[in-house]
Amino acid sequence: MTDTAPPTRLESKPGISVRPARDGDVPALVLLWDACGLTRPWNDAPTDIAFARRGPNSDVLVAECEGKLLAAVIVGHDGHRGCVYYVSADPEHRGQGLGRLIMEAAEAWLVNRGVWKLNLQVRKSNLPVIDFYKSLGYGEDETVPLSKRLQPAPHIDPDAPR
Ligand SMILES: CC(C)(COP(=O)(O)OP(=O)(O)OC[C@H]1O[C@@H](n2cnc3c(N)ncnc32)[C@H](O)[C@@H]1OP(=O)(O)O)[C@@H](O)C(=O)NCCC(=O)NCCS
Repeated sequence: MTDTAPPTRLESKPGISVRPARDGDVPALVLLWDACGLTRPWNDAPTDIAFARRGPNSDVLVAECEGKLLAAVIVGHDGHRGCVYYVSADPEHRGQGLGRLIMEAAEAWLVNRGVWKLNLQVRKSNLPVIDFYKSLGYGEDETVPLSKRLQPAPHIDPDAPR
């Protein structure tokens, strides 16, 4: 093998599995999302995890190998389209197929529930990641995402100064 050999693709490594997150995964998930630069002060990751795991239309999926969480995603649907959030692969194992593995698991989760289209959003500060999604078959839509906060998030103290 030469120094230029591509890294082993982890998605085919024996022992790697994708499964729904469990209660005990929350600390490792938060660490993974921190390491991936996905956490924000105004979003509380444990609250987001609990909310995604609460009902039948969403879940948190994790890729695990030998007890370590290597990739994760929040997947769900709103009765019309599918969506994903917190798409993440361990920074120490990038470019080895983990991102593709967790996205394919999210897509399968949606297909199994009858969903035929997945919409996702990329922050303007993270535009290079669009090439990752394009390599998975995603294309850009002629839409402008809008959002509105309907009530304070559950982890926000309404009496706290903001
Ligand atoms: C995006 C992310 C999940 C990709 O994980 P990864 O394990 O490195 O991706 P993979 O190895 O599965 O790559 C899948 C394909 O995407 C391509 N790809 C991955 N990252 C890429 C990048 N930054 N730019 C261009 N292409 C990329 C790979 O070349 C590969 O193509 P191939 O399968 O045709 O060879 C990972 O970089 C990450 O966690 N980033 C930080 C969090 C983030 O930005 N999440 C997305 C929020 S919208």
